[in-house]
Amino acid sequence: MSQWPDRRILDLLGIERPILQAPMAGASGTAMAIAVSQAGGLGALPCAMLTHQQVREHIAAFRAASPGRALNLNFFCHQVPACDADALTAWKQTLEPYYRALGADFEAPAPASNRAPFDEQSCQLVEELRPEVVSFHFGLPQADLLRRVKASGARVLSSATTVEEARWLQDRGCDAIIAMGYEAGGHRGMFLSEDITTQIGTLALVPQVADAVDVPVIAAGGIADHRGLLAALALGASAVQIGTAYLFCPEANVSSFHRQALDSAPASDTALTNLFTGRPARGINNRLMRDLGPMSAQAPRFPLAGGALMPLRAITEAQGDSDFSNLWAGQALRLGRYMSAADLTRDIADKALARLSR
Ligand SMILES: Cc1cc2nc3c(=O)[nH]c(=O)nc-3n(C[C@H](O)[C@H](O)[C@H](O)COP(=O)(O)O)c2cc1C
Repeated sequence: MSQWPDRRILDLLGIERPILQAPMAGASGTAMAIAVSQAGGLGALPCAMLTHQQVREHIAAFRAASPGRALNLNFFCHQVPACDADALTAWKQTLEPYYRALGADFEAPAPASNRAPFDEQSCQLVEELRPEVVSFHFGLPQADLLRRVKASGARVLSSATTVEEARWLQDRGCDAIIAMGYEAGGHRGMFLSEDITTQIGTLALVPQVADAVDVPVIAAGGIADHRGLLAALALGASAVQIGTAYLFCPEANVSSFHRQALDSAPASDTALTNLFTGRPARGINNRLMRDLGPMSAQAPRFPLAGGALMPLRAITEAQGDSDFSNLWAGQALRLGRYMSAADLTRDIADKALARLSR
């Protein structure tokens, strides 16, 4: 066999290899998307932390370098929480000893987080730029906005972390579902529950989602090489979405201290934490997580928790240390290899296809 046994995602998204590069806000940009798309996978541009003008510039660069290749524009669709002054004050007080020790200005108002949800303006941007694929994290936007995204011609994907979320997404018109297992790096896409005990590992989640929905399933979480891709296909997925393994590529935008942590942390040293943004995300343990415990009831709602940490991050990052910085990574981090994103995409897909052809 020299053909993929399941072509549903390849045909749906117009790609040659069943690998989606995970959009990674803050950690991946155009260079990564170009490299992966040129290798036949689906490149992604995470938009949650970009201005619309930046998105336009990134897309122009992508279109110039990868003409005719599909691109995935990724957005968060969280509800912006009402400003809860008491919660913000209590959170800042929790952090006060660090402010004092580092000489940060405790009285100055905390900066605002820059993670924005999909809204009317983002929808107009999609209508203007017409990406082939639009993916969402934390559910889906309002029905009228989603209708317009689909009417623009984009295929719509979103992450499910439980079978219930997968059914919910299918019922609202998702063209394919990313089944995001517990192992995955970055924010959990969870949106029907805030309870992290509901979260399921990739091995158990993917086949149950594949049984529950009719649309194709994309497995995510802990997949870093051809063995992971083969396992995902065996479980009923039509493709995989890979994040952490791409962080080791030269195209990733990771700081020197994030890279250092990626280089050295054992696979047992990640945890789900809500300290950095208010939502559970998987990252490498650091001082703040160890001091406060990775999950805290005191962290304000997403994305507000990040504001009070910004002054502490600015001071410590300037000293090259990551005590207050999120170090997103998944549990498969020790499978990371130092190769270009294009080579990684080809390596994973071609070794899997060779194995399938035996
Ligand atoms: C550094 C980092 C940032 C991420 N940011 C996003 C994001 O902006 N949007 C999104 O949909 N998923 C994001 N994710 C989650 C990925 O899409 C994907 O589900 C996950 O990386 C898969 O698991 P893996 O890391 O084990 O490969 C991020 C993951 C990482 C590691």
